[in-house]
Amino acid sequence: QRIPVICVDGPTASGKGTLASEIADRLGYHLLDSGALYRLVGLAADKKGLSTDDQTLKEPAQARRLGELAAAMNVRFEGHQTYLDGQDVSDALRTESAGMAASRVSAIPQVRAALLQLQHGFRRLPGLVADGRDMGTVIFPGAPLKVFLTASAEQRAQRRYKQLISKGNAANIDSLLADLVARDLRDSSRTHAPLKPAEDALQLDNSALDVEQSVKQVLGWWQSQS
Ligand code: C5P
Repeated sequence: QRIPVICVDGPTASGKGTLASEIADRLGYHLLDSGALYRLVGLAADKKGLSTDDQTLKEPAQARRLGELAAAMNVRFEGHQTYLDGQDVSDALRTESAGMAASRVSAIPQVRAALLQLQHGFRRLPGLVADGRDMGTVIFPGAPLKVFLTASAEQRAQRRYKQLISKGNAANIDSLLADLVARDLRDSSRTHAPLKPAEDALQLDNSALDVEQSVKQVLGWWQSQS
């Protein structure tokens, strides 16, 4: 039996996570936050004292070590909590520095290969909503619905800013904007699985939409194609 997958890809802070989790909730589907896996590799490297700076990542031995680390990661997802080696890392995962480290390690082909099986394992009945950068292009190329979600960089920086402030964190809009532009550039210019819409992806610009409007659009697409 074919297990349906809805892919939601797009740049940093485009609202993929929120949209994907809403759609999954309403359809009663499983959810894959693939960015969390790359963030976990960054955290795991940090814990082991393995450097993820750009220069060190160019060394083949370091790329191999990180690939091995990704393959051996002991990860558990429980509701909204994520555990790495039994330790709750849910908050640490969501920081800007974890996002940047994820972006650096995610360019390593050995790391991407190590996470492939893990991601395929999320495809279980009754269905899956998967969010990331390469869900539609590489991980689930046969998915019946692929959404590519975008919003202007300024709009995305604003949202990230509000998110951080509402959680009581300090934030600076200019540095957030610079960080997300840098991350987008790195993600879309890398050789392996770059961020780009699949040829059969439907594009949704949510700059002027609220969450409910985006959800309705995607559910509409889902109903009309199934
Ligand atoms: O989506 P999120 O911000 O959590 O992703 C963190 C980083 O992980 C991204 O900037 C990207 O470099 C990487 N990533 C990826 N492929 C995915 C999901 C995330 O390369 N499918």
